Amino acid sequence: MIRIKNLKKYYDKHLTINDVSCEIKPGEIFAIVGHSGAGKSTLLRCINGLEGYQDGSLKVFDKEISQLNEQGLRELRKDIGMIFQHFALMSRKTVFENVAMPLVMWGWNKNDIKDRVEELLKLVGLESKANSYPSQLSGGQKQRVAIARALALKPKILLSDEATSALDPNTTKQILSLLAKINQTLGITIVIVTHEMDVVKSIANRAILLEGGVITNSGSIVELFLNPNENMKKFLGEEEILPNDGVNIKIFFPPDVAMHSIITHMARELNIDFNIVWGKLEKLGDKVLGSLVINVEPKDELKVEEFIKSKGALYEIIKEIK
Ligand SMILES: Nc1ncnc2c1ncn2[C@@H]1O[C@H](COP(=O)(O)OP(=O)(O)OP(=O)(O)O)[C@@H](O)[C@H]1O
Ligand SMILES: [Mg+2]
Repeated sequence: MIRIKNLKKYYDKHLTINDVSCEIKPGEIFAIVGHSGAGKSTLLRCINGLEGYQDGSLKVFDKEISQLNEQGLRELRKDIGMIFQHFALMSRKTVFENVAMPLVMWGWNKNDIKDRVEELLKLVGLESKANSYPSQLSGGQKQRVAIARALALKPKILLSDEATSALDPNTTKQILSLLAKINQTLGITIVIVTHEMDVVKSIANRAILLEGGVITNSGSIVELFLNPNENMKKFLGEEEILPNDGVNIKIFFPPDVAMHSIITHMARELNIDFNIVWGKLEKLGDKVLGSLVINVEPKDELKVEEFIKSKGALYEIIKEIK
């Protein structure tokens, strides 16, 4: 659906997007994460042609964005809705009028506009606010209006630039579950830009980590959280402190494997001592995943590996011998 290959974008001489390649598939929720200034918004804005690029390729629906003329861009943006951190609503227009704006621009007639706006306000749970003004709404309600407006023309893709960053944690959750509902019920592909890992964990399927315009880690959410590379660990603020003696083994527990039962069985069946060095449970969407680092004596290493292997291919072992 979106294919990005060796993309480069400069602001003057500054290379802001540096050789980025990734593919976003139909129906997924794809996250672009990274610190401030990493180039996340720039990359997102390249997708709907708000920013140009100097090298590489960016295709949406098989069309090279840099080759579209004004009319082509207008058509493209009809298929790509966008929401922002600060909502970008028109303060002098009512909720109804804000949501109706794209429809008015595309020349819909009054009755169709009324039907569509009512349908959209129902979808985002704001039927009762049609005649309110943005200043009379909470942050979460404003974002719902912005979402309704972004969906007005039935886009296939929704771009979200830090859409929950100005909201409190509870409201963030509600907006994220609305986005998940939109993804699931309408099949809309969603690309979210965020610096908040909790956002990624709760709704994304795959993600890239962007640092200084370069992708430094990418993969499914499960891979990224259970087996992050050094860059992702740093971003997550996780530095594992491992003992210098013995052998450290990292075990991954996918959703269908109970961490607790393997660990208790291992101690009992192998009759060995080991230390639990580090562990975490992560809630990713509706799944709970765990990872655990244990430290064993070198003489027990093979036994432990055999035991973990004997449980099938449900996990991975990382050994770090220091
Ligand atoms: N219009 C512009 N002109 C010149 N430089 C720009 C422009 N927009 C962004 N930049 C620069 O490009 C880099 C990436 O900016 P971008 O806004 O994409 O980062 P970001 O990851 O979205 O950051 P944030 O999390 O703060 O929103 C920054 O160094 C920024 O200063
Ligand atoms: Mg940004």
